[in-house]
Amino acid sequence: MRKNFGVKTWIYPQPVLMLGTYDENGTANLMNAAWGGMYDFDKVAISLSSHKTTANLEKTKAFTLSIATKKTMVESDYFGIVSGNKVYDKVLKAGFHPFKSEFVNAPLFEEYPLSIECEVDSFTEDGILVGKIINVSIDGSILTDGKPDPKKLEAISYDPANNNYLLVSEIVGHAFQEGKNIK
Ligand SMILES: Cc1cc2nc3c(=O)[nH]c(=O)nc-3n(C[C@H](O)[C@H](O)[C@H](O)COP(=O)(O)O)c2cc1C
Repeated sequence: MRKNFGVKTWIYPQPVLMLGTYDENGTANLMNAAWGGMYDFDKVAISLSSHKTTANLEKTKAFTLSIATKKTMVESDYFGIVSGNKVYDKVLKAGFHPFKSEFVNAPLFEEYPLSIECEVDSFTEDGILVGKIINVSIDGSILTDGKPDPKKLEAISYDPANNNYLLVSEIVGHAFQEGKNIK
């Protein structure tokens, strides 16, 4: 029997996006954001309430979005439960190593191998941040034949119904191919 649950944001898989910004002193900050994804072919969109990150975004108009991984799961969760408004340099406290993006005024992090570097395209009053993608940078350690390898990346996904992190790395088929079997 099918059960109704009303209004829920239970989309699977839901990304765990790590939003990196600089504050006015050039101190790097990170927050965890699961309410986001691709928007158009060269943009991302994220739904944000008020954070240290949003204050930073107003000033720098730039951010990075990194994919949280199995290896960085504990720190990535920490960046989602502690605000930079409470712990000033939470990136340092977690032992992460920021460095400046070559393309936008926002930090990248040695610990996150895949990052999307964005300029703010728009940020609406109801908190919808749209970023224009300026560059994607990927650490060579997660590439196979020049392309990102999900098995090496070990991205995690947020499970909104059970508040868990899930591993996203198993290949079960080939896109644009498998369906041909019933054509
Ligand atoms: C799994 C997870 C997902 C989250 N997703 C979002 C989100 O999409 N939007 C948002 O505004 N806050 C989200 N948060 C909350 C922020 O990450 C959290 O408030 C954080 O402390 C903000 O950091 P900051 O104040 O240093 O910017 C999420 C937290 C967790 C743990």
